[in-house]
Amino acid sequence: MKERARAARLEQRIIGLVPTMGALHAGHLALVERAKRECSPVYASIFLNPKQFAANEDLSRYPRPLEADVEKLTAANVDGLFLPEAAEIYPAGFSTYVNVEGLSERLEGRSRAGHFRGVSTVVLKLLEIVQPHFAYFGRKDAQQVRIVQQMVRDLNLDTEIVVCPIVREADGLAMSSRNAYLQGEEREAATVLHRALRAVGSEIAVGVRDSLELQRTMTKVLASEPRARVDYAEIVDGETFEPVARVARRCYAVMAVYLGKTRLIDNMLIEPVGEELRVDV
Ligand code: PAJ
Repeated sequence: MKERARAARLEQRIIGLVPTMGALHAGHLALVERAKRECSPVYASIFLNPKQFAANEDLSRYPRPLEADVEKLTAANVDGLFLPEAAEIYPAGFSTYVNVEGLSERLEGRSRAGHFRGVSTVVLKLLEIVQPHFAYFGRKDAQQVRIVQQMVRDLNLDTEIVVCPIVREADGLAMSSRNAYLQGEEREAATVLHRALRAVGSEIAVGVRDSLELQRTMTKVLASEPRARVDYAEIVDGETFEPVARVARRCYAVMAVYLGKTRLIDNMLIEPVGEELRVDV
């Protein structure tokens, strides 16, 4: 992978990288399509990174439909697939980790101990191996993107992080490899995340700015679905991911919700545009 990427760089080509853990869906493929418009070659990576799963999490049952993934990437015309083994990425004696302090401890980081340390470590390794000009990430994982951007800044990496919008199912559910876990009526119930975000969007549209009020709205909609159990639902600052009292700057409404054993996350971007606040689910 290093040799191929280096050869492309020597030819002055613009390298794009799309890191994934596989079980690809239209959200992943949207990243590939964007990369294909902006770069050549485009490499995708599939690596189910054990270091970002806590011991009690779903690493062992995470879907691994490799053949279907390869088909999708081939149809999307990627120029290369990087498919390393865990022992290549983490050989015996591996002992260096990256931790983006502060940002990694809140929200997803609080619920999933060690998760972001695993993410930032593997993303740094992928960026070092490929040294792409651009790397493509989804806003579905808003906190993850923010952490990766911080790491790139702090460590002077020569990659620009490109953030792509959330791709959703027709009924609003954000696409996720974990949606496959949803059993029976949980699938329908899972639309409650998007409904809760839209309710916040409606309140913002009529002038509500107070975070507690917006949070109450989210919580109320989520509570209306008996199958949903809320891990967190908050309005946070777009830079620090700390709670904010009022929405004025760029913020996110963020949530993590269990449906049965499946943990889903979703978010909405709230952004000032002139005098107005624009929301993007
Ligand atoms: P994974 O969950 O496979 O996601 C790979 C990329 O696809 C991430 O940037 C994620 O935000 C994006 N993505 C997932 N669902 C999306 C959707 N519905 N709309 C838009 N983008 C979406 O995130 C990871 O893998 C890993 O943590 C990784 C960055 C690869 C490091 O291991």
